[in-house]
Order: sequence, then C-alpha cells, then structure tokens
Amino acid sequence: MRQGKPSIAKPLATNKHLIRWVEKMAELTQPSAIHWVDGSQAEYDWLCDELVASGTFVRLNREKWPGCFYARSDPRDVARVEDRTFICSLSKDNAGPTNNWVEPYEMRKKLKELFNGCMRGRTMYVLAFSMGPVGSPMSRVGVQLTDSPYVVASMRIMTRIGLPVLQEIDKDAVRVVPCMHSVGMPLKPGQNDVPWPCNDEKYIVHFPETREIWSYGSGYGGNALLGKKCFALRIASNIARDEGWMAEHMLIVGVESPQGEKTYVAAAFPSACGKTNFAMLVPPKALSDWKVTTVGDDIAWIKPDANGQLRAINPEAGFFGVAVGTSEKTNQNAMITLRRNTIFTNVALTPDGGVWWEGMTDEPPAECTDWRGERWTPEIAKQTGAKAAHPNGRFTAPAVQCPSIDPAWEDPDGVPIGAFVFGGRRSTTMPLVYQAFNWSAGVYVGATMGSETTAAASGAVGRVRRDPMAMLPFCGYHMGDYFRHWIKMQRSLSSTPRIFNVNWFRKGEDREFLWPGFSENMRVLKWIVDRVHGRAQGKETPIGWTPYYEDMEWAGLEISKARFDRMQEVNRVAWREELIGHEELFIDVHDHLPPEMVYERELLICRM
Ligand code: GTP
Ligand code: SPV
Ligand code: MN
Repeated sequence: MRQGKPSIAKPLATNKHLIRWVEKMAELTQPSAIHWVDGSQAEYDWLCDELVASGTFVRLNREKWPGCFYARSDPRDVARVEDRTFICSLSKDNAGPTNNWVEPYEMRKKLKELFNGCMRGRTMYVLAFSMGPVGSPMSRVGVQLTDSPYVVASMRIMTRIGLPVLQEIDKDAVRVVPCMHSVGMPLKPGQNDVPWPCNDEKYIVHFPETREIWSYGSGYGGNALLGKKCFALRIASNIARDEGWMAEHMLIVGVESPQGEKTYVAAAFPSACGKTNFAMLVPPKALSDWKVTTVGDDIAWIKPDANGQLRAINPEAGFFGVAVGTSEKTNQNAMITLRRNTIFTNVALTPDGGVWWEGMTDEPPAECTDWRGERWTPEIAKQTGAKAAHPNGRFTAPAVQCPSIDPAWEDPDGVPIGAFVFGGRRSTTMPLVYQAFNWSAGVYVGATMGSETTAAASGAVGRVRRDPMAMLPFCGYHMGDYFRHWIKMQRSLSSTPRIFNVNWFRKGEDREFLWPGFSENMRVLKWIVDRVHGRAQGKETPIGWTPYYEDMEWAGLEISKARFDRMQEVNRVAWREELIGHEELFIDVHDHLPPEMVYERELLICRM
C-alpha cells in the first residue's frame, strides 16, 4: 500500500443526517469504496499520484512547475453546458423564461435512473466544503459526493475542504447543501478506465426550494466543481433573495490611492470577458503610485452590514482562470500565481514538461502536444488552424499564491463595496466607460447588459446576447424577480454604491480594439474611484455621465482626444437599435418586471 493511502470507509463526521445521506446515496450509486476527504496535504499528494497512475494527470517538470499537474479532458466535455442546465423549482414561473425547467418530480425520477449504479467500480468521495472562510457568518457549507478524483483535487484548490468543515457540520448549526456529482461512467469488473470519464448525456440540475444540486455526465469546470456556479450562484442567489443579500458573478478588487485611501469595487463581466485580468490589474508605470489588490475574480457574496454598508466576500479560495491570452504582459499576477501547485486543463504540454497556450509568449514553442493530445507545431497550426490550447482551457490555482491578494481577502465580515461596475464584450455602441445617474438607472444598465458570446459555454461564439448582470446562465430564479431584488436592495442601504458600465472591447473601423485594455484599464478604474469620492468631473449624456478627456490620467499613454471621443461616442442611431435589444429580454420577463425598469426605459427613450 502506498504511503498515506487512506482506506477509510469510517465516516469522518458524527452528524447523523450526513452519515445517513451518504449511506443512502451509496446505496443508489453503488460505488466500490467510500472515501471521506480530510483535506490534508498527504491525502492530496496521494490523490494526485493516483491521478498520474490512472493517466488523468501528467506531473509537470518539478523544477520549473513545482506541484503542478496537467490534464486533458474528453473533447466532448470542455465547457459549461447551458442547454443541459436546469432549475427545477416547484413552479415553472419561479424558474422564469431564461432558465430550463422540468417538473421536479419528473426530474427526480430521471435522476434516480441516471444515478442508479452510476458509480460502480469507482470510489465515491465525500467532500465537505465551505464557500467563504470556515465559520464566517457569510459562509455556507456544502457536501459534494463525487466519483471524480480530479474534481476532489480541483475543489481542494477552489474551496476550503475537509475536517474543519466537517467539524462545522457536526456542530449541527449549519444547513448543508447536498451536491450529488457523477461523471456517469460506471466500470464493469475488469473494464479499463479512460483518462477523462464522462457521459454524452449531461444533466446539471438545481432544486432551489430544497437547496439541492445533482450533476451528471461531466467532469469539467462549472458543470462539476459544484461549489462554484451551481452552489455559489444558482442556489446562493435563491438563498440571498430570501435572506436579503446578493450572490453575484463579480470580481472584487481593492484600489488604494497614493494618499492611502482604500476603495473596493465589484465588477460583473460575462464569462471570459476579463474579470480575472481586472481583478489582478497591474497599474501602468505612470500610475504606479496607485495600488490594486485582489479579493476575488469570479463570485461575490454581498450583504448589508448593521450600518447599511454593503460588504462582500469572495466565497472561493482559488482561481479557475482562462489560460489563453494570459501572459506576463496581460496578467503578470496570474502568471506568478500559477507557477506552482496548479492544475492545468486543456492547454498544451511542452516537451520539457511545461505548459503553453496561445498568447502566453510571443514565440510559440517549436513543438508541443496540443489539448487533444496531438503533435502541434506552429507550421501545423498555420496549415490546419489547430489550436494548441482550447479557448476554454483553464488553470486552477490557489488564491493565496496571488502576489496582489488583498490583506482582507479572508476577512469574515467582508470588504466594503464603493462601486459596482458592469461590462460586456461589445465591438460597437457601448462607450469605454459611463456612470449611471442613480441606483435604479444603474440597475437598468446591469439588467440590459449585452455581450458577445465566448467559448466558456458550448454554443456559437461572438453573437450578442442579453446577459443581465452577467448572470443569465447563473440566476437560479426568475430574472424579473432578480431585477426586483436589486431594486429592493437599495432600501436596506444607508448609501448605495455608485454604478458604472465599461467596455474594453469596442472596435474601430480597422476592426482593432480602440482601447489598449489590461494595465491601462487602471485609468478607467481611477476615474471610477475619483467619481465615488466626488473628485472627478462627469459630462452628462443621454445614458449617464462620461469622463471629459481632461478627467482621465493620460501620462504615459498616447491617446488623442479624437480617438477618446470615438471610444466614448454615444451614437443615437446605434442606441435606438440597442434599445430594441433591451426590449427582447424585457418582453420575456415582462410579467415580473419591476416598474422601475419600465420607467428607466421610458426616461432613456426620452433622452435619446
Ligand atoms: P470566467 O472565469 O469565465 O467567468 O471569465 P473572466 O471574466 O474571469 O475571464 P478572463 O479574465 O479570463 O477573460 C479573458 C479574456 O478577456 C481573454 O480573451 C482576454 O484577452 C480578454 N481580456 C481581458 N481583459 C481585457 C482587456 O482589457 N482588453 C481586451 N481587449 N481583452 C481583454
Ligand atoms: C464561467 O464560465 O463563468 C467560469 C468558468 O467562471 S466555470 O466555472 O466553468 O463556470
Ligand atoms: Mn465565471
């Protein structure tokens, strides 16, 4: 037996409900072993060794990439499957028109069939995890039963797991969100496993009333790391609505002015639209007296404190970041974070036991193995168009390793939020930055956000779709009620955060981005923070306040006033189109739409 191998079937918890549920689920799924995850380093090391032995993991070069592993998924399991994601509320109306709904009784019947014997020949891991620091009043606890050791290893990076969480559960004071997960590929006696087991039939199912998650058929990302989108957004958005707080698809970033004044900003951009980059922003030289720190890069749980101040925690403990495009130039902090103890999935493997992806370096490696396991060279790429890395290939890295991590990132009370930022990927129409006139105008801005689709979800890429608050795939209830909840939040606040909209992706006639982005986004962030503190001017436009050219810090960057005006242009013809786009979604949710959204729309039309 290998050192550290735990052959424990003995529960690591005393909580009777938990133990009974595990037994019941084991009866249903029939795994060949049960492993209670303690979360220790020894256990993680053993698990990774097992994953190497089974061919799921390749250990990377120990000198250059200490503690790092490489995995390739099945090419049919590379992204979230939104069309296979279900919100099974008791009434269809509660799920709303933007979610897939199946009658819960029907769905439970289907799930019972699917999960019946689905873990045969595999180990079932009992993975207790906390979203948020263990014991924080803002944290929540889940237990994921999974037959994927890859998921266990990833969840150890992405969340707080194991004994401390089981102890919380044993206190019997927390409500546990049960999360069932199977890759859906039972093994017959003697059947050889594959490196990435999964099933073509996929179901990502949420029962909002009972706060339950059932995920079948996928081992990848948000489909399988159930703490992330399933719990921290779809289930948590339901809990948050009931309890008067917010679960949002937002990064949280700290901004310290040269005078030492600290402002925290939370920003919602759709998947693969720059949250990780913005969260880890390195200010350009000319603004190096400003300091930017990272609290989170994907999810924010936000709650009013006793004084009516919104405070936010990052419920996660790691980053599941898009690899392609991440480089020393675009995101130096991410590059340092992922140098050790990181799991890479669906990028390219280099002959010296390292990883590579498009955009990581100016010079591609002479040769590597691509994410499908095929030989890849720059010549082959030129001939066939083959990509070394999948566009949704990702790194899974511990947040503590991030050089810009904020000193308060694990503060159990969260950090105070001074501004909300919304932003999509829009090649036309949307200016670089503007500020909404007030809270309800800002909620309208978020609610009508549009973005061109990316590879983070399967389906067509580059089509503009409405993605309210970047929550279209993640809101676990009726989108109209979600807008209502946003509007209502104002009542519990002594002062509302200012609301802004940004767009890094506007293109000129040459189809090139008008704005250099990345580090230079600091200039926009500075204007936002200055506005929050009443320092910067704003020019009134039909859609909100925009910066005058003179309000922006231009030291070290050459952008003419004419070019800036093009980036900021509010084109009335384009905006009339845009308004029709707003209507698309509003028609769908009209019967739940808060009146404020209708008034804001009328006001906007009048100003146009
Ligand atoms: P999820 O993890 O999927 O929720 O997404 P995310 O918002 O964290 O995405 P991420 O930061 O990984 O987005 C990466 C993509 O955004 C890459 O294609 C980047 O090149 C692009 N990107 C990020 N910041 C900028 C920017 O300032 N300008 C431009 N043009 N592209 C950017
Ligand atoms: C996203 O798609 O928004 C992600 C990646 O952050 S996943 O965890 O797969 O949802
Ligand atoms: Mn995300």
